[in-house]
Amino acid sequence: MSIKKVLLSSVLILSPLAVAAEDLTIGFSQIGSESGWRAAETTVTKQQAEDRGITLKFADAQQKQENQISALRSFIAQGVDAILIAPVVATGWDGVLEEAKDADIPVILLDRTVDASDDLYLTAVTSDLVHEGEVAGQWLVDETAGAQCRIVELQGTTGSSPAIDRKTGFGNAIAGHDNLEIVRSQTGDFTRSQGKVVMESFLKAEGGENICALYAHNDDMAVGAIQAIKEAGLKPGEDIKIVAIDAVPDAHLAIAAGEMNATIELTPNMAGPALDALEAYLENGTVPAKWIQTESRLYTAADDNQAIYEEKKGLGY
Ligand code: AHR
Repeated sequence: MSIKKVLLSSVLILSPLAVAAEDLTIGFSQIGSESGWRAAETTVTKQQAEDRGITLKFADAQQKQENQISALRSFIAQGVDAILIAPVVATGWDGVLEEAKDADIPVILLDRTVDASDDLYLTAVTSDLVHEGEVAGQWLVDETAGAQCRIVELQGTTGSSPAIDRKTGFGNAIAGHDNLEIVRSQTGDFTRSQGKVVMESFLKAEGGENICALYAHNDDMAVGAIQAIKEAGLKPGEDIKIVAIDAVPDAHLAIAAGEMNATIELTPNMAGPALDALEAYLENGTVPAKWIQTESRLYTAADDNQAIYEEKKGLGY
């Protein structure tokens, strides 16, 4: 029986709604596979659904918002019980979210936020994206301890909430520290390949010896940039300090090798809390919160990064 039919019968007989997870069919609109973190989130989401006996319809948007909107419309037409979406950019969702609402299909946002009224979705499971940038900026403030430092920044996908918020957070943290200056800032689209290409252009434009630090909005771009720094004859992690976000296994490996300095963890398990919230909603009509916040932990060379790498390998990455 579909959830809508169960809902209807529960209303009619005025009894509490109990919905078995194995009766659920959920659509998941994923952005693509731009980063190691994204691939892990996909793996973990599929695993979470399978463990609960949920049927998951998966759609890869290949980084395009129009593909995500089409996927949502297709899920709505198929009458799924709920939709998970990792929205590639922050704006332009109102219309399709209204359509889902009109069809009584709850939508849960994963890992990124949208600029839309929060009554258009059930809940959002994300980190505090501004805070992540602040942690990265504060790490650099402490690390440089007042020494002059020219920073280059690799931004995430233009218009995405992590790119906007991580930039804002980093700016908040370094504001008032006159020794710190962002001299170049450009998107690397959250990919390793673009991280390398854009870092090469930064090194060429500034001269490697004039760059003191790199702030990358994700680890994949930092790993690409490390390659560019090495090819320029410099030592990443020493000549150019590197702080990024995600804490994927390769970042721990780079920190263990002294080629990167810090990363802030973003769990790829957004689906666990999201499906818990959905099940609670279907059971008793409530959600724990409009925003379910995941933790943001800083890792540095002070941690046993080799051991963490071994531990994390195989956790969906
Ligand atoms: O929205 C989360 C970000 O998207 C991750 O930090 C990044 O790796 C991914 O592509």
